[in-house]
Amino acid sequence: MNDRLQNSMTAVSSPFKLSIRGLYKAYGDAVALERVTMDVLTGEFVTLLGPSGSGKSTLLQLICGLVPPSGGRLFIDGADRTQASAAERDIGVVFQNYALFPHLTVGENVAFPLRIRGLERSVILRRMEAALGMVGLTGYTERMPSELSGGQQQRVALARCLVYQPSLILMDESFSALDRNRRLVLQDEVRRIHRETGTTFIFVTHDQEEAMTMSDRICLMNRGRVEQFDTPRALYDTPRTVFAADFIGTSTILQGVVRPGGRLATPVGDLPLPDGSSVSAGTKGALVLRPEHLRLHTDDETGLRGVVEDVTFGGAEQRVRFRLGNDQKIVVQVPATLALSAGQAATVRWNAGDGHFIPDQEA
Ligand SMILES: Nc1ncnc2c1ncn2[C@@H]1O[C@H](COP(=O)(O)OP(=O)(O)OP(=O)(O)O)[C@@H](O)[C@H]1O
Ligand SMILES: [Mg+2]
Repeated sequence: MNDRLQNSMTAVSSPFKLSIRGLYKAYGDAVALERVTMDVLTGEFVTLLGPSGSGKSTLLQLICGLVPPSGGRLFIDGADRTQASAAERDIGVVFQNYALFPHLTVGENVAFPLRIRGLERSVILRRMEAALGMVGLTGYTERMPSELSGGQQQRVALARCLVYQPSLILMDESFSALDRNRRLVLQDEVRRIHRETGTTFIFVTHDQEEAMTMSDRICLMNRGRVEQFDTPRALYDTPRTVFAADFIGTSTILQGVVRPGGRLATPVGDLPLPDGSSVSAGTKGALVLRPEHLRLHTDDETGLRGVVEDVTFGGAEQRVRFRLGNDQKIVVQVPATLALSAGQAATVRWNAGDGHFIPDQEA
C-alpha cells in the first residue's frame, strides 16, 4: 500500500510512465538486448518494431517483470521498479497466444483479475461488463473461449487486461494470428480504447504498416539495439540509418561519396544532394529516394536513363521497378493511368530536396 501511495505521489513529478536506463539482457554469452535507454510519456502509444530476433519481446518481458534484467534500471512513474515483481508492477499484458482459461466462460475469464484482487461481486460484475462492452463483446459473457473466433478471443484477452485498469498495457504481437480485416478492426478498437482511457500502451509488432498507423512513436529495433525512436513521420522522412530507411517503407538506397561541390558520386552517376545537407567532400553515405518522389518520363532525355523492368498495379497508383545503368534498381510510383510496359526506355527525375542523405556512421 505504501509503495502504491509513493508511486502515485511520484507520478505527479514525472511526465514519463516508463523510463529505462541502460537495461540489457544476456542469456549466457548471447546478448538478447543491448543497453537500452528510453522514456515513454504517460498516455503515449509506443510500438516496438523490428525484424524477428531483434529483441522486442525481450524488452517487453523486462518491462513487465517476467524476466529479470542482466543490468540497468527501470522506472515506472518516476519510481525505481527494477527489483519489483511482475505482480507489483501492475502492468497489463496481452500476448499473441490469447491464453484464456479454457474451462472458464468469457465473463469468468474477464472477471478473473478482479476476483483474485478480492473485489466485491457487484463491482466485479459491473466492471466485467464494462470491459466487454469496450471491446465490442457485450452479451458474450456465457460463451466458452472455444466458441469464439481468434479475433474474439483476442478481444476477451484485451478485456481481461482492461478490466483492472492498469495504467500501462503491453501487447506482444497480439494481432499477428488474425486475418487482415480482423486486424484492422482490432487496431481501430485499440486506438479508440487508448484515446478514451488515456492508458499508456507499448505494442510489439513486426508489421510496419501496423506500427505506422497505431503509434505516437515507434521504437525501431535491430539486433538487440534501438535503431531509432521517433514519430512514424520522422522515421519515414528522416531515417538516421540505412537500416531504418530500408525497413520503413520502400526506398531506393544509393551509396556514394560526396564530391567537392556537393554532389554524390554513385555507380549511376553524380547525383544532387538535398538542400541543407552541407556535407563535406569525401563523406561517404547513402542517398535515400522514396518511390513517390520520383518521376518517370518517356518523352525526354533529362534525368537518369533506364529501362522499365516490371510494373505492379496497386489500385490508385502503380509501382515500377526501373533498371538504371550498372544494374541498379530503383522503385518509382507512377499514376495508374500511365501506360508502361516492360522493356520500355525512360528517364527518372526527382527534386533534389526530396532526397534524404544518410552519412555513414563512424564505426
Ligand atoms: N530464453 C531465451 N534464452 C536464450 N536466448 C533467448 C531467449 N529469449 C530470447 N532469446 C534470444 O534473444 C534474441 C531476441 O529475441 P526476442 O524474442 O526478444 O526477439 P523478437 O524481436 O521478439 O523476435 P520475434 O519477432 O521473432 O518475436 C533472439 O536472438 C533470441 O533467440
Ligand atoms: Mg517476439
